[in-house]
Amino acid sequence: MTNDKIYFIGNWKMYGDLSSLRNVKNIINLSKSKKYKNAKIIYCPPFTLIERFTEITKKCNVAVGAQDCFKINGTGPYTGEISAKMLKQIKAQYVILGHSERRNLGDTNKIINKKLIYALEENLKVILCIGESIKENKKNLTMKVLKNQLSYCLSNVKNLNKILIAYEPIWSIGTGKIPVNKNLEKLVMLLRKYINKKFKNNNVKILYGGSVNPKNINILKKIKNINGFLIGGASQDHKKFIDIVKKTIT
Ligand code: PGA
Repeated sequence: MTNDKIYFIGNWKMYGDLSSLRNVKNIINLSKSKKYKNAKIIYCPPFTLIERFTEITKKCNVAVGAQDCFKINGTGPYTGEISAKMLKQIKAQYVILGHSERRNLGDTNKIINKKLIYALEENLKVILCIGESIKENKKNLTMKVLKNQLSYCLSNVKNLNKILIAYEPIWSIGTGKIPVNKNLEKLVMLLRKYINKKFKNNNVKILYGGSVNPKNINILKKIKNINGFLIGGASQDHKKFIDIVKKTIT
């Protein structure tokens, strides 16, 4: 880990209901304790729960984000869609963009770029997901794929201060498989180098995501150059989420 704040982002995906909010208070309590003041906890529940989350996290430093927004901002005849402006209205502070599960549903790098520009316009912080498939990984194409995703998704973005990059190898998401630390460390170093050269930013936050859980966190937390984790499955269980935070910050 780096010496900065450590991010723990919970991506609830299409899970969670009103009753699951009860357990969030345990996380809120944790966030208030001095020992964990360095933990930056961000919840990304489904759209339907965002407002409730922002209400219950009002008096603590747990932040709330969405899992996506539409490629057009404001309002309009787009049945079923939600814009960055609407997210801002319900006090979301973050939005995940480019998750591989959204890419599978049709999001291209170009579309992600549009969403990202609007999200920034609304003053939302963006958690930009990038990652390679197992096929690409086996062909040693990982860096090429990641550079391509970054250069398109961040096209015309002048300032990366409001962007967190989440490296999520697709083959790690929900599979229980994680990359070897040594490889991850090298990859993050190469990403930082590339981002510095192309976007003139030497301080970008880079997170790891993909099967992070209480069992493997003791290994993952040893990665020297990352700023935290994007946690899917394990974030839906507050005990597991708390365990991950506690094991990381000892
Ligand atoms: P996972 O999901 O932790 O369940 O692998 C991570 C993600 O999809 O962001």
